[in-house]
Amino acid sequence: AQAASALREERKKHVYQDDAYADMDWDNLGYALNPADYMYVMKCSKDGEFTEGELTPFGNIQLSPSAGVLNYGQAIYEGTKAYRKENGKVLLFRPDHNAVRMQLGAERMLMPSPSVDQFVDAVKQTAFANKRWVPPSGKGSLYIRPLLMGTGPVLGLGPAPEYAFIVYASPVGNYFKEGTAGLNLYVEEEYSRAAPGGSGGVKSITNYAPVLKALSRAKSLGFSDVLYLDSVKKKYLEEASACNVFVVKGRTISTPATNGTILEGLLGRVVEKAVHVDEVMDADEVFCTGTAVGVAPVGTITYQDRRVEYETGDESVCHKLRSVLVGIQTGLVEDTKGWVTCI
Ligand code: COI
Repeated sequence: AQAASALREERKKHVYQDDAYADMDWDNLGYALNPADYMYVMKCSKDGEFTEGELTPFGNIQLSPSAGVLNYGQAIYEGTKAYRKENGKVLLFRPDHNAVRMQLGAERMLMPSPSVDQFVDAVKQTAFANKRWVPPSGKGSLYIRPLLMGTGPVLGLGPAPEYAFIVYASPVGNYFKEGTAGLNLYVEEEYSRAAPGGSGGVKSITNYAPVLKALSRAKSLGFSDVLYLDSVKKKYLEEASACNVFVVKGRTISTPATNGTILEGLLGRVVEKAVHVDEVMDADEVFCTGTAVGVAPVGTITYQDRRVEYETGDESVCHKLRSVLVGIQTGLVEDTKGWVTCI
């Protein structure tokens, strides 16, 4: 008990008194894990109640080899970012929306979920405790990863008897090595990301390992990411491995309607409809959006034996949208919609 109380005191000192920046090369942040000091851990016991969580130093966790998450993939995650304002304050972007999306995902994966307040509080505490890891204004962001998983042991297929909600964080720069230059995407026809009735519409961890094969094949051919088509007709656009996709033609911006196979993005939507791959190849502009990716222009798409180039310059919809969004997220543009919270 004495050691625990000493640790708590030490943490308080660190959390509340250390305003300096962590020792990082802020000009060269990529998208690798540089774990911030603290993670938040909240457990859910057999009665389905989440008990009070706490911040603890980032580190390994102990799991039974028969934990539900390890054997049957019962887990979902979220991603949200903290940004540094020019005056040094730290801003969060719509964490309540991540909370709601986690609740929907938990329901699909038969897991109990933290309440919106518990989720938002955990994200705020994690961001605040790791303030020195939020990059200086304009140099990147602190990516915050809330993770909900079945930790209790199972042998037969069934929901885990216990769960953990963990929030950790890492400073990040651009997701793609292209930075803000155009991405080169490849339309995947052999593998599907999701199928009707499956879990593609929620952020289940089980949606991600199955895309690795197509992704790594595309990367080895020099592409940035893969565009998935619907698994039935193989004609309609779904999303990329790590982000949603938008298609611009004239004055219309379209994005595939979410129907259970596409993860509902949090950055915004325009005309939601079925988008045929031929429309994509005929578009003026294509861009990707996601928490990790931000708003990224697509320079080329390759489909079968055709490669099409798209507009990516300063006059593009993508560029304008990105400037406004990043402006709101970093406090440079007025937030008229109440999307930003200062911690
Ligand atoms: C995110 O944008 O937060 C994601 O989950 C994408 C992930 C593949 C990094």
